[in-house]
Amino acid sequence: MRLERLAAAHLNAVEALEEAGQAHPWRRAILARALDDDTLDVWGAWQGATLLGHAVLAWLPFEAELQAITVAPHARRQGVAGMLLAHLVTRARQGGAERLLLEVRENNAPALALYRQYGFGEDGRRRGYYPLLGTRGGEREAAVLMSRPLEARAAD
Ligand SMILES: CC(C)(COP(=O)(O)OP(=O)(O)OC[C@H]1O[C@@H](n2cnc3c(N)ncnc32)[C@H](O)[C@@H]1OP(=O)(O)O)[C@@H](O)C(=O)NCCC(=O)NCCS
Repeated sequence: MRLERLAAAHLNAVEALEEAGQAHPWRRAILARALDDDTLDVWGAWQGATLLGHAVLAWLPFEAELQAITVAPHARRQGVAGMLLAHLVTRARQGGAERLLLEVRENNAPALALYRQYGFGEDGRRRGYYPLLGTRGGEREAAVLMSRPLEARAAD
């Protein structure tokens, strides 16, 4: 598996992965803007010519934010997200960010376990922030706000 910074030329592969891997995929126009945006780092994990996963890092003043991470369903539980996340932690630290932030649905157990394993702690919740996936009624779920410090001695 190799990691590569993604660019406009990868739009079709990124769109296909979003469609396959996300309940609410980013639309093509938004993906195209993200791949062309200097304030974002979009990284992909490739196996040969197949994009297995991608992740988006946004640069903020003093901090960085993980905006998305998606792994193809057939490639899950093989360390793809962990590899992408470890890489973005290193990039954020090398870029001078003091913390890496993210937000995740409270019912997204795989993502919560991933983030905890990589040293993220919970900072708070936005109650009722997201419509609950798979429901049509007014049910909602909280956004969990998480972060991890990026000083040199923090565990990866
Ligand atoms: C969350 C997601 C990115 C994890 O990707 P992955 O490549 O399967 O994750 P990894 O194989 O690197 O797993 C690393 C750790 O995360 C945790 N984890 C990942 N998937 C898990 C699951 N289904 N159940 C429990 N823990 C899980 C485990 O601690 C795992 O370590 P282990 O395999 O040694 O137990 C993937 O399930 C996905 O794309 N989900 C849909 C999109 C999404 O929800 N993205 C996050 C919010 S934007």
